[in-house]
Amino acid sequence: MEKRQRFLAALEGRQVDRPPVWLMRQAGRYLPGYRAVREKHGFWDVCHNPELSTQVALEPLKRFELDAAIVFSDILVVPEAMGLGVTFGKGEGPQIAKRLTSEADLKAWNTQGIMKRLEFLPNAARHLHSALEGRHALIGFAGAPWTLFSYVCEGEGSDEFKAPRVMIHENPALAHKALDTIADVVAELLEAQCQAGCDVVQLFDTWGGLLTAEEYATFCLPALRRITGQLHKNGRKTLLFVRGGHHLMNLLGDSGADGFSLDWRSGFALARALYPNHVLQGNIDPVLLFSKPETVAKAARDLVATMRAHEKGTRCIVNLGHGILPGTPVESVEALCKAVANG
Ligand code: CP3
Repeated sequence: MEKRQRFLAALEGRQVDRPPVWLMRQAGRYLPGYRAVREKHGFWDVCHNPELSTQVALEPLKRFELDAAIVFSDILVVPEAMGLGVTFGKGEGPQIAKRLTSEADLKAWNTQGIMKRLEFLPNAARHLHSALEGRHALIGFAGAPWTLFSYVCEGEGSDEFKAPRVMIHENPALAHKALDTIADVVAELLEAQCQAGCDVVQLFDTWGGLLTAEEYATFCLPALRRITGQLHKNGRKTLLFVRGGHHLMNLLGDSGADGFSLDWRSGFALARALYPNHVLQGNIDPVLLFSKPETVAKAARDLVATMRAHEKGTRCIVNLGHGILPGTPVESVEALCKAVANG
């Protein structure tokens, strides 16, 4: 099967010769070509320039047997376009200048004409789509409302994200309003990426797993449904990744997503039992890529066998259980993709 056809078949629940494969954060700092581009250009400059963003998105496709490309961008384009001032300090992760602490902060969010300021992202998608010439599938993405809300409240990366988790209890009305505002921008941004040629869009809820099931149901699911409901009107498909979301698994169906990207700690068989008709994606541990290439290849073959145990592996996509880590050996990524391609 051709790469894009295989990917579309997996999304639509048709027969596949083998599950398709792509990897979260497949373009990035572990690749020498990306690092060379970053020596010369700032991160936002790469995102804003369609040629550069296409160049870095294509690098993994040239090196590995991947079935799909992902647009090169970041989830934090949304708070940046709202005027909140997002910077990436050297090795410290993101910093957001204007944190959300009060109703006045929310009122100051600049959402008027925001799609104009985010136009570079669908432009990057369109440019990449044309470079792919239909050979690979194309994935667009955005941050899930909760994860974006978390960065905006905390003002930086964190293990605990205390500020947003306190805010939902101290000021639930403000939290709901902020989550809805983010959701509406995200829905428009994802629709624009679909119109630019993306075959599917993924929502990254990297910090969703910090919440209890009750909190996730109250604050995250309504905002996610706002997005998926909007996208479904135009027949778009959505995947949802919730890092550490095992305890939320039975709720995820209420997000309205067409498929779930499983964390490496989530069991594939259990998710399949809960969701026989959803696309399931995942879930090799990204840390495993620091072991020998043979070990990685075996894990990939085992995962494909698990996928095939149910309806010959339909509605399955091989991926990692979280993004590729900086410093990951290129040989391991190659071994993973080859093992899937030859399986
Ligand atoms: O191929 C790809 O997947 C690249 C596109 C991509 C990036 N970020 C580029 C990027 C994607 C899909 C993301 C998603 C993203 N960004 C998430 C969700 C996925 C996850 O890993 O949990 C999150 C939480 C972010 C926020 C973010 N952006 C952080 C925490 C950082 C700094 C640390 C890090 O993870 O790299 C970024 C910056 C960023 N986004 C870089 C890249 C390649 C590194 C920038 C650099 O060159 O220094």
